[in-house]
Amino acid sequence: MKLMKTKDDSYTFFNEKYQEAYHSLTGAIEEAKKKYIEPLEVKEGDVILDICFGLGYNTFAAVEHTKNIKVIGLEIDEEILKDLQELQINEKYEIIKQLAKEKRYKDKDYDLTLIMGPAQETIKTLQEQFDIVFLDPFSPRKNPELWTKEFFQDIFQRMKPGAKLATYSCARAIRENLRAVGFIVKDGPSVKRRGPSTNALKSL
Ligand SMILES: C[S@@+](CC[C@H](N)C(=O)[O-])C[C@H]1O[C@@H](n2cnc3c(N)ncnc32)[C@H](O)[C@@H]1O
Repeated sequence: MKLMKTKDDSYTFFNEKYQEAYHSLTGAIEEAKKKYIEPLEVKEGDVILDICFGLGYNTFAAVEHTKNIKVIGLEIDEEILKDLQELQINEKYEIIKQLAKEKRYKDKDYDLTLIMGPAQETIKTLQEQFDIVFLDPFSPRKNPELWTKEFFQDIFQRMKPGAKLATYSCARAIRENLRAVGFIVKDGPSVKRRGPSTNALKSL
């Protein structure tokens, strides 16, 4: 896996199989904050579903932003969890590294779990009801199984009324699939003059 520096000086990897980077090259950590944490207004007490954990930057940004949160991450690839061990970021990222190694991290502030396997299957095993969902697969062309109506239905069913989802894609077909299962869909922030991201709300 090739390590790449992005424009906010944080690192990401390039995945040869998917021929895509894990993050926008305009800034990997910035992307986590601006497209996920800020628009979703992540706060203390939230139960969060991190679909496509990867390097764990979205969970990391949530951990840096607040405490007393529970996160369940879904990921298929054990290799990326090994690769992220070489990143040196800060003390809070050491929590993410431990989570990636043990699949579990718990202290007085954070209750974090990582479930391995195809997210379209592992999601069906979840009993929790979530306040916040990060939806961060590779592009719809490369990762079509995670952008379907069926998968969105499984997500929707596991969200509390008033819960919110964010994803970087603003593709029309993706937004139509989100609307078809009951989400209210809005433009999310655009970062560095790229197109808007998408925020989806489950109404009260
Ligand atoms: C764009 S990257 C995610 C970046 C990540 N959120 C981060 O902050 O580093 C997409 C991730 O989805 C994972 N993935 C691809 N297909 C999957 C599937 N069917 N189920 C679960 N994870 C999958 C890949 O292994 C990869 O880690």
